[in-house]
Amino acid sequence: MKSVQKENSQIVSNSYQGKKYHIVTYGCQMNVHESEKLRGILSVLNMSETEDIDKADVIVFNTCCIREGAEDRAYNNVIALKPIKEQDPSKVIVMCGCMPQQKKGKYNLKEKLPFVDIIIGTHNMNMLDQYLLKHAITGEQIYDIIEKPVTGMDNAKAIRDDHLNAYVNIIYGCNKFCTYCIVPYVRGRESSRLPQDIYLEVRDLVQNQGYKYITLLGQNVNSYGKDLKYPMSFAELLKYLCTIEGDFKIKFMTSHPMDFTDDIIKVMKTEYKVAKTLHLPVQSGSSRILAKMNRHYNVKHYMGIIKRIKRAIPNISLSTDIIVGFPGETVRDFEMTLKLLKKVKFDQVFAFMYSKRTGTPAATFENQIDEKEKNVRLNKLLRLQKMIQKEQIKKYFNKTYDCLIRHINGVAVGITDGGKEIYIPGYKYVNQNYFAPVKVENIRNHKLSGVIK
Ligand code: 5AD
Ligand code: SF4
Repeated sequence: MKSVQKENSQIVSNSYQGKKYHIVTYGCQMNVHESEKLRGILSVLNMSETEDIDKADVIVFNTCCIREGAEDRAYNNVIALKPIKEQDPSKVIVMCGCMPQQKKGKYNLKEKLPFVDIIIGTHNMNMLDQYLLKHAITGEQIYDIIEKPVTGMDNAKAIRDDHLNAYVNIIYGCNKFCTYCIVPYVRGRESSRLPQDIYLEVRDLVQNQGYKYITLLGQNVNSYGKDLKYPMSFAELLKYLCTIEGDFKIKFMTSHPMDFTDDIIKVMKTEYKVAKTLHLPVQSGSSRILAKMNRHYNVKHYMGIIKRIKRAIPNISLSTDIIVGFPGETVRDFEMTLKLLKKVKFDQVFAFMYSKRTGTPAATFENQIDEKEKNVRLNKLLRLQKMIQKEQIKKYFNKTYDCLIRHINGVAVGITDGGKEIYIPGYKYVNQNYFAPVKVENIRNHKLSGVIK
């Protein structure tokens, strides 16, 4: 990027002034938040956002490569812009994020997408403004993938979409190397933000911007702080953030069963401001498959956490991720996953068919499962989970949940930490968006209603 900086000094006027941009985001919350930061970066060039892709002068695709489907979607949508770019060559198309960062991705982007003006990875997205300025001078395609971050995205001011929930990064990268997962290859090693920087960001969001939920983000948030000069555990970070004054709750994702220690359960139980919800991916109900996945825990360990957290926090809302059809997964292994779902009774399950990612160990494992069989297993699992969730609604009866009181379509509604809506008929609200306990008194047609206690 040295040359970019040198050429920037020659720029007399900002050629993007007053132009419009549109961002298309694929993938996880991390990407959603990074797109919020890209908005901040683009606003520095005095550009404004448009919801209408046809009206945009700059179109940014912030991509994901976790599964083949995500890649295909992004690739096909970028390809679809080719005729538009041919018609109007002044439009600038950018592709960034995880997909270009892959060493051996499915598509050779540089070769296949010559009409895309800027192709950059995860480690240099924060310099998008500089790449745009360079492109305005040369008019040539920029293809720049770097191996390590120059500076993080933290300097970029996020322009957030949501006005209730704010995402806040606490740790970047992943050191776990689960054998199916591409993330460590495209996001690099774990790197924690300083606690005081996180504290100041959260305090500003809560006290000056009125956010009610703060969702702490990382590929493995439980690993937070291990790499800091003065290490701080994730549980300690949670406690520290709970000292911020204000009416708000803290959520976090994603957790890893290997690093999800009992001190976190303790803080979740004792700190009012930590939301009573946990996303804890199990991936499989077979310890044999978990070992092949390099997950570093077995089913007994996972079930131990579930038992302890349910005992400590009876109202906890639980969710998980499952991969079906991992190489070598037998029908028996798969049935053990179904058994685990029946035992835990998650409030929500995100299930995926295993997708081969070139460059990961599992891509070369023997006994790959065919797509048809994966599909059969996925559907069976989803059907089971649907039944479990239907049954789960009964557990709310006569229980009291701390809720965010909102006013939706003229009715007061309490939103539980797990996102469940409880209607509060007849409640005369004076204001909204505050936390209060709501007792469920009725369940009708799978809808909950109750009263503020
Ligand atoms: N195939 C299918 N699902 C995957 N995940 C990660 N990598 C793959 C893959 N290769 C799932 C995991 C993870 C979630 C974010 O995506 O379940 O927890
Ligand atoms: Fe991927 Fe495993 Fe890291 Fe999660 S913990 S990002 S699944 S390697």
